[in-house]
Amino acid sequence: MTQDELKQAVARAALDYVLEGQLVGVGTGSTARLFIEALGEIKHKISGAVASSEDTKTRLERHGIKVFDLNEVTDLPVYIDGADEINAEMHMIKGGGGALTREKIVAAVARKFVCIVDGSKLVPVLGSFPLPIEVIPMARALVTRELTRIGGTPVLRQGFVTDNGNLILDVRGLQIVDPVDLETRINQIAGVVSCGLFASRAADVCLLGTSDGVRTLTAD
Ligand code: A5P
Repeated sequence: MTQDELKQAVARAALDYVLEGQLVGVGTGSTARLFIEALGEIKHKISGAVASSEDTKTRLERHGIKVFDLNEVTDLPVYIDGADEINAEMHMIKGGGGALTREKIVAAVARKFVCIVDGSKLVPVLGSFPLPIEVIPMARALVTRELTRIGGTPVLRQGFVTDNGNLILDVRGLQIVDPVDLETRINQIAGVVSCGLFASRAADVCLLGTSDGVRTLTAD
């Protein structure tokens, strides 16, 4: 199976986690886009969606799915999104598409986080994928120095501005052995809006696309 077919399979499998008559939180990226396509086919069964980016909002609306402002929502049963890397503890690196801050906010409201990935995203140690950090523009140099101090090599994502009007630093060279600790440390740097480590709020379930079918993983 191709990587796209594996993504397609997990996107479809995620429909099982969508509750009838309820809202669903929707992530961003190529796998989330396939999920939106699948969700479009059962749109009459849900009350609407919460989007994690402007791109996702546009796509949901194009399918005739009502998109709610997160501030109007008190209960979000499930959030479904991809990841750039995930480990056995269900910690993730996210933000390859630059939507990490809104993804983290929607995930924080959701009762269940379902991560949908093809098999290549499951890793023993996070960090081969450069860790995205969203930064307030005036803090770019400060945050770059601080991230270098903790052993990373931050690179400014060229020509990219987030939905929130900020910049992304992609940090290479990190072997992330304690994701919860590193997430906390990076969040404490002045000027960091959010960190692409999703460890304090990890996924609850991972649907992993493999050539043998979709595997359902939970934390060890
Ligand atoms: C978007 O900002 C990201 O967090 C994506 O969820 C992540 O990059 C996975 O994207 P793909 O599904 O395109 O691999």
